Amino acid sequence: MGISVNRDAPLRLVLDTDPGVDDAVAILMALAAPGVEVVGVTTLGGNVPRARATRNALALLQAAGRSDVPVAAGAARPRTGRFRPSVAFHGPGGLSARLPEPSAAAIGQTAVDFLAETVTSNPGRVTIVALGPLTNLSRLEDRHPGVLPQAAGLVIMGGAVDAPGNVTARAEFNIHSDPVAAAHVLALGHPATLVDLAACRQVGISRQQAAGLSADGPLGQLALRMVQGWFARDARRERFEFYDPLAVALALDPAVATVRRVALTAGTTPGEHWGETTVTSEPGPIALAHQVDAPRFFALLRQLLGWQGL
Ligand code: BDR
Ligand code: CA
Repeated sequence: MGISVNRDAPLRLVLDTDPGVDDAVAILMALAAPGVEVVGVTTLGGNVPRARATRNALALLQAAGRSDVPVAAGAARPRTGRFRPSVAFHGPGGLSARLPEPSAAAIGQTAVDFLAETVTSNPGRVTIVALGPLTNLSRLEDRHPGVLPQAAGLVIMGGAVDAPGNVTARAEFNIHSDPVAAAHVLALGHPATLVDLAACRQVGISRQQAAGLSADGPLGQLALRMVQGWFARDARRERFEFYDPLAVALALDPAVATVRRVALTAGTTPGEHWGETTVTSEPGPIALAHQVDAPRFFALLRQLLGWQGL
């Protein structure tokens, strides 16, 4: 069990993210993974405004000793309207552990141009893991059509397919934040893996489990500070679900979940169906995570983050 270190070539990842407590854990997992090269982090608004997401990405990379990883800032606004930060879940700053201010800045290139250049200079070699709203990817398709299919893979955390939502009764945060972008990306017909709330709810830990964990090594300790800090900030919190970490896990090890092959859309009509993800046909180009092998996921956390007591 666990990921192989003997890949023929390194798995190159770009993480498109709005950190975010669970984004932070996901980024740290990717940085810790053997045989994996995090070639860049692209940011956008979502859990926090774009400027804060960019600051958080830079601060995390610095705390992880990886300020060599370029950070490119992306969308400050969704395709329509504005982002509504998820303060109740992630706190106003987005992270549940205080980190020193980063000394590095984002690169001059936009997220969209960075993605285009990185993917086209390594055709078939770069996997994009989208951990926030899909605005950057939708804009990438507009500005550089034909680039997305040159990615080796696309793994998206988003949606609540046949499952209760976490913003409205049927809508999940990332898709609800920019359903126009989500509908655009999902309609492209490119293969992608979608990790929705129904999948993520299969991998959670209780307050008591989190309190009993310890970690080897700086990356695992930092990730654990995020999770334990999240519980500490609100005594009513009873369960932490590994949303974005499950998307990274599937990028590293597809055997973490079975999939259903479907076509999907996102509701873009203002009103009660805004941001809902619906299956339109089956089979289709999207591999929707279905049955998660929770022991395999937790073994991966132990392997990458050195978490003990899980
Ligand atoms: C998703 O929304 C965000 O709050 C999390 O970071 C995750 O990407 C879960 O719905
Ligand atoms: Ca996120």
